[in-house]
Amino acid sequence: MPGTVVVGTQWGDEGKGKLTDILAEEVDMVVRYQGGHNAGHTIVVGEQSFAVRLVPSGVLHPGTVNVIGNGVVVDPRILFGEIDTLEARGIDTSNLVVSGNAHLVMPYHQELDVLFERHLGKNKLGTTKGGIGPTYADKALRVGLRVQDLLDPKIFREKLEVVLKEKNAILAKVYNRLGPTADDICDEYLGEIAPRLKPRIVDSVNLIHEALEAGKDVMFEGAQATFLDLDHGTYPFVTSSNPVAGGACAGAGVGPRHLDRIIGITKAYLTRVGSGPFPTELFDDIGDGFVDRGHEYGVNTKRRRRPGWFDSVMLRQAARLNSLTEIFITKLDILDPLPTIKVCVAYEIDGKRVTHMPYHQSDLHNAVPIYDERPGWQSDTSSCTTMEELPAAARDYILFLAEQGGVPVSYVGVGPERKQTIRVA
Ligand code: GDP
Ligand code: IMO
Ligand code: MG
Repeated sequence: MPGTVVVGTQWGDEGKGKLTDILAEEVDMVVRYQGGHNAGHTIVVGEQSFAVRLVPSGVLHPGTVNVIGNGVVVDPRILFGEIDTLEARGIDTSNLVVSGNAHLVMPYHQELDVLFERHLGKNKLGTTKGGIGPTYADKALRVGLRVQDLLDPKIFREKLEVVLKEKNAILAKVYNRLGPTADDICDEYLGEIAPRLKPRIVDSVNLIHEALEAGKDVMFEGAQATFLDLDHGTYPFVTSSNPVAGGACAGAGVGPRHLDRIIGITKAYLTRVGSGPFPTELFDDIGDGFVDRGHEYGVNTKRRRRPGWFDSVMLRQAARLNSLTEIFITKLDILDPLPTIKVCVAYEIDGKRVTHMPYHQSDLHNAVPIYDERPGWQSDTSSCTTMEELPAAARDYILFLAEQGGVPVSYVGVGPERKQTIRVA
């Protein structure tokens, strides 16, 4: 598998970290291509649980090179925190490198994220408040500071002074806040952060292409998910980058020809954190059961994730948007106790049956799910290791989702641990 993309097909937290970790055993390099520390990817190995945000989920494999790609936005303070935590737990992070072209999340980005959310009031997006949106906005405005700027103190200060003048004017005049001084930021970023980050800064595009040219296997790990994509998600309730598989091309610097296998990570039900439309959302005991049994709380923000039934309309759209070659259905075990399980197969919008994702936001807000009711299996699947061991109704459920999405299933998750994964032949 020379070039493999792992992409979320829903609203995030599908279990991307788990599969990336499993596949990282077989690949030479794992590259994060977008997002920042808004991500929270969990890897469970035996009794131990690791939560990574910026660090690629291949980090537990000593032979795998882990690259934070050019499309990622990096808060170095968070990155160092993660590295320290991993090292303290005996994980060797010497194979972790950062693209010199990645943009830096600065202290004012984080502050502006929080203040802008407050300004939006009841229309807030429910961001992770990490400064992700403001950092990507500055990238698009072409006033962002990049990791490579840390290598040149003169340029760093020059660029910072230009942008800080405007940021501090906004902080003072709009929000009545006193912004940071250039000296304070330079002391921290040039004095403390630059020397520590320097050994990890690389020409990531060259590194990735050298690996590909040497016939090595490279995996591109998406953060967030298809319906949080800035272009294809439920705008404005989205993140500020392109998690879709095509985002791997821009965010890592490879052409589409290098993407051979595109694995859509698909939770057996649905969750979403933050605001935004959610046609199959549940407000009852069944939804509470998903949250309780599935531990559906944000890895970073600890927010309760909103639960809902599986939505095939979304999977069909995700298959198109990402050119999925296969799906990994996660968290099947969470459905174990249910006597019946609903799957949304289409929407009713203005009295019409619609089987594709409506492009108009108002239509999505008004969409009424049309459900197919499937029999549950009411038995414990968490120790099943093959498709044959699964109850017949669970197998039928998996195949039904695959048929609805028009994509084959290659893995099924029946628990958080590595070994609780069924490889479908
Ligand atoms: P990511 O952001 O896509 O990497 O997903 P998160 O780590 O935020 O959330 C997924 C959660 O589900 C984590 O706590 C995982 O340990 C857990 N998980 C992943 N796959 C399975 C599974 O098949 N069954 C169960 N019960 N938990 C799973
Ligand atoms: P992983 O990689 C779930 C959501 C936030 C908010 C919106 C915008 O763990 O799946 P942002 O801070 O990015 O500007 O917030 O996106 N969001 C996520 N939801 N999983 C994530 O990451 C998310 N990253 C951002 O809750 O609704
Ligand atoms: Mg997550």
